[in-house]
Amino acid sequence: MASKQAPVCVRMKGWPIIVAGGASGIGAGTVARLHSEGAIVQIFDINGEGAKEVADKYASDVSYQVVDVTNKKMCAQAVEKFANANGGMVQGLVNSVAYFGCKAFDAEKEDWDKSFSVNVVGYANMVTAVQPYMLEARKLKLSCSIVNVSSTSRSIAQVKRWTYNATKGAVSAMTRCMALDMGRDNIRVNAISPSWTWTPEVAKAAKEGGREKWEPVWGKFHMLNRIGNVEEVASAIAFLLSDDAGFVTGSDLACDGGYMAIGPERFGEDSSFAGSDY
Ligand SMILES: NC(=O)c1ccc[n+]([C@@H]2O[C@H](COP(=O)([O-])OP(=O)(O)OC[C@H]3O[C@@H](n4cnc5c(N)ncnc54)[C@H](O)[C@@H]3O)[C@@H](O)[C@H]2O)c1
Repeated sequence: MASKQAPVCVRMKGWPIIVAGGASGIGAGTVARLHSEGAIVQIFDINGEGAKEVADKYASDVSYQVVDVTNKKMCAQAVEKFANANGGMVQGLVNSVAYFGCKAFDAEKEDWDKSFSVNVVGYANMVTAVQPYMLEARKLKLSCSIVNVSSTSRSIAQVKRWTYNATKGAVSAMTRCMALDMGRDNIRVNAISPSWTWTPEVAKAAKEGGREKWEPVWGKFHMLNRIGNVEEVASAIAFLLSDDAGFVTGSDLACDGGYMAIGPERFGEDSSFAGSDY
């Protein structure tokens, strides 16, 4: 089920912004949103073909580099290249890469290593790489902001998802520390926590039947009775990046259709005392 999109405003004209994981899903939706808001966007992604496909949709101001965010040196070199093309500055970073491996009792060291090196260390590598170029931008009093894509999985139990959920808890915790360490420089750092959002990864989980079959099932977990769209997460990310969120830092915004706020009684279907109209 699609939702009505808010009219787009132009809040980030000329801002050099990196979207790590911009070749697909929420990252690709964020590229579209930031481009429409006037930003100069560069995709960092391990999937060069996908990144090119996204960048080619735009006539200008969207480019890409093939970057593996687990490689700290590669992150630093790629950020330097992007910054040098933009006056030695970077004003925005969105960390949206993910390794979705979900293991529990069966998790081996490699599963833990891969989960943490992509989902946590990868985010840290990118923040570390952009920070000096954000400090340059701050010398000119330009706005600087970072958004780390976490997940509602950061703080709930889900069946046999030790590895993934642990990384998302770490992303949210790390975001608060990053916000503290960059607050004095007026660089804002926030997390966003989406719930079920229709992306290629979720489509893979749906297997047969696609969104039509699974929307009514997964939608039930949400107050809004549907799952999210990448455009909706992208617009919340754009808000956090923009000056409209000028006094927001160290936060973790739920962009989840009410998934985290709903209680176990849900709409009261199974409660004798509910009196629900739903
Ligand atoms: N889709 C959802 O329902 C959902 C819900 C909550 C949170 N999230 C989070 O949102 C973010 C985006 O998820 P998505 O569903 O859009 O995923 P996606 O798979 O569509 O996109 C992730 C991108 O990251 C890239 N990537 C993976 N490893 C990389 C690496 N080492 N270096 C560089 N790029 C790498 C992939 O190539 C891909 O383009 C993730 O952090 C995910 O955990 C997604």
